[in-house]
Amino acid sequence: MAETKKLFIKTYGCQMNVYDSERMAEAMGGAGYEATETAEDADMILLNTCHIREKAAEKVYSELGRMKALKTDRPNLKIGVAGCVAQAEGEEIMRRQPAVDLVVGPQAYHRLPEMEEKIRSGARALDTDFPEEDKFEKLKSRPKAKRAPAAFLTVQEGCDKFCAFCVVPYTRGAEVSRPVDRILTEARDLVERGVREITLLGQNVNAYHGAGGDGGSKTLADLIWQLDKVDGLERIRFTTSHPNDMQEDLIEAHGTCSKLMPYLHLPVQSGSDKILKRMNRSHTAESYLRVIERIRAARPDILLSGDFIVGFPEETEADFQATLDLIKAVEYGQAYSFKYSTRPGTPAAERPLVDDAEATDRLQRLQALLTQQQRDVQNRMVGREVSVLLERQGRDPGQMVGKSEYLHSVHLDAANHQIGEIVRVKVVQSMTNSLTGVLV
Ligand code: 5AD
Ligand code: SF4
Repeated sequence: MAETKKLFIKTYGCQMNVYDSERMAEAMGGAGYEATETAEDADMILLNTCHIREKAAEKVYSELGRMKALKTDRPNLKIGVAGCVAQAEGEEIMRRQPAVDLVVGPQAYHRLPEMEEKIRSGARALDTDFPEEDKFEKLKSRPKAKRAPAAFLTVQEGCDKFCAFCVVPYTRGAEVSRPVDRILTEARDLVERGVREITLLGQNVNAYHGAGGDGGSKTLADLIWQLDKVDGLERIRFTTSHPNDMQEDLIEAHGTCSKLMPYLHLPVQSGSDKILKRMNRSHTAESYLRVIERIRAARPDILLSGDFIVGFPEETEADFQATLDLIKAVEYGQAYSFKYSTRPGTPAAERPLVDDAEATDRLQRLQALLTQQQRDVQNRMVGREVSVLLERQGRDPGQMVGKSEYLHSVHLDAANHQIGEIVRVKVVQSMTNSLTGVLV
């Protein structure tokens, strides 16, 4: 038996990267690697990168600079770059940083073990293909390590929407949905390993159209109803959705499927129709608000989350005000907001920028409003009873931390309870980014 080597994976960016990192760790497990938490004792370092904004991509190069120094003491250390920066800038990474041994794009992860063999002999390896074979089948997880109670499961990948600012259609490719039976098999396997909550992932998850057992194409709602029947699975979530793909059956499921949690991440990006048009979003502020109305009619207590971009090319103060108005009309419980970042190769990259100080100022005003809304929504939870999936020990003895249906972190004393249990909790206090509760 060859000795076990150590693999350190550092994950940037979205939840799909978290899922991909787990799959890569499992694939490398088959090649004699076990995971480690520190770069310092690793035989191989993999950076799973994000290309969505310029800052995210630049981080990779500075991190590689630091990692390279580790090679001085350990010449056998191998360094790899995975994820969306790898896909978009593979050749350039190889050129800019000679310490990099391996570059692998998100569609080629299943080829990692072969690539590892190649770099052990001193060669460098680059694979950013979009191969025909099903990487998920090749990445089947190794049995049967225990898992944390909440897990991600990728059901759809890629995007055909081509929003004018976004690199995803280029880095993750065209929309592909996994077949229903494969997803069910993976879900059952996760449940056997202790998972109680699954978040279905896709860049455009509500455009899911995977093959069903009968050969027909299934919607995300169909898939959710199939998962609803999986014994031991208690909670289902999905992210990220596009407003134009919120079909009636999915909206309805929010009112009728008890395992589907009352939380929806539905990015709108801007509240100005002029900007939405230039973003190629193919919806208006009004059509978005109508979708929200229908969702709230199906599930009045749903917590809404969104993404916003400020300072998109040619955004005026009036356009920005329209975004603030939309936010006020919706009231978000959670949100992510970003200053526009030029991404080379996207349509918006050619357009005139908003003054940077102005964009920064808008971002601050937008975030102040969103923070206030988040706080208001959280404060209204006080006094209510929620269900909490216990995910980990808290800081003090007997204290545990879990998530409510609404994805709020809840801290409570639960000394006689186990991780993975769902308990009823009365919320007693709202903290900055979490709630405190007591068992009922
Ligand atoms: N600049 C700023 N934010 C962006 N996003 C995507 N592309 C860019 C960009 N070029 C944001 C969008 C998207 C989220 C994942 O990242 O809000 O919904
Ligand atoms: Fe990017 Fe989302 Fe637009 Fe697709 S729908 S292009 S992933 S922002």
